[in-house]
Amino acid sequence: MATGPRPEPTLPRSAAVSLSDPELQALANFAGRLADAAGAELLPYFRTDLQVENKARAPGYDPVTLADRAAELAIRALIHETYPDHGVLGEEYGFELGASGLTWVVDPIDGTKSFMTGLLHWATLIALYDGQKPCLGVVEQPYVGERFTGSRLGASVYRRGAGERTLRVRSCEALSNAVLCSTARDIFADRTELEAFDRVARETRMARYGGDCYIYCMLAAGLVDLVIESTLKAHDVQALIPLVEAAGGVISGWSGEPAIHGGRVIAAGDRRVYDQAIKLLAG
Ligand code: IPD
Ligand code: CA
Ligand code: CA
Repeated sequence: MATGPRPEPTLPRSAAVSLSDPELQALANFAGRLADAAGAELLPYFRTDLQVENKARAPGYDPVTLADRAAELAIRALIHETYPDHGVLGEEYGFELGASGLTWVVDPIDGTKSFMTGLLHWATLIALYDGQKPCLGVVEQPYVGERFTGSRLGASVYRRGAGERTLRVRSCEALSNAVLCSTARDIFADRTELEAFDRVARETRMARYGGDCYIYCMLAAGLVDLVIESTLKAHDVQALIPLVEAAGGVISGWSGEPAIHGGRVIAAGDRRVYDQAIKLLAG
């Protein structure tokens, strides 16, 4: 399995694999084991003097570390051992097709720039793609001790020492009251996209930058109203879709299309804010 820049493989589409509630729950429990395995690899590296490699062609900067690779390998090993007929799409080691129609979509560290600077806005993202959509998403932050889980069975967060809590988006009638988040202004592909983002940002109560996957988790928790991003990949967003939706939010591309392949992504806790933002993004 080679590493380094490569074209993003497209997830194969097939009829959605049908899973009963107990089957989905068993897979959610297994995703928790994957998250534990990733965390065990990541924590020894966190806040150490890490060697960082740049995967992007200069002047771009897309860092990767031994921690990213070790965590993805641990996840892959456990999937191969437990479900040899499941596929895997991971950021660092690419796509392996599985015969079952189910594919695990994995980002071993979402927020590598945070991880390598000792900040806390990073997590392991694990999604299960059923041929049509991600039906399960887990976001694991092992240092903070938080695990967010979303599927049609519900959206919840488990925090070490505080137990489990159901997640619910908050209502927000008007864009003028909305708190908008985005990871960085330089994630927008060009000036046109940035201008579209700014048309929305100007109408909100405030815009806050930084956060990576955590901004979607906080939207699901009812603390953020709107997220607008671009240039995401499937592995950046798949785990976040079931989480946002199960918490009552809406997540899509900027024109309302499914966000399963990444690209331009918008998420909102309240459909009224989503509709207002979508209009402004369109120009
Ligand atoms: C990054 C995060 C970030 C997004 C970037 C991604 P990485 O992922 O998802 O929120 O804005 O586009 O590259 O590289 O830290 O896994
Ligand atoms: Ca990512
Ligand atoms: Ca990553």
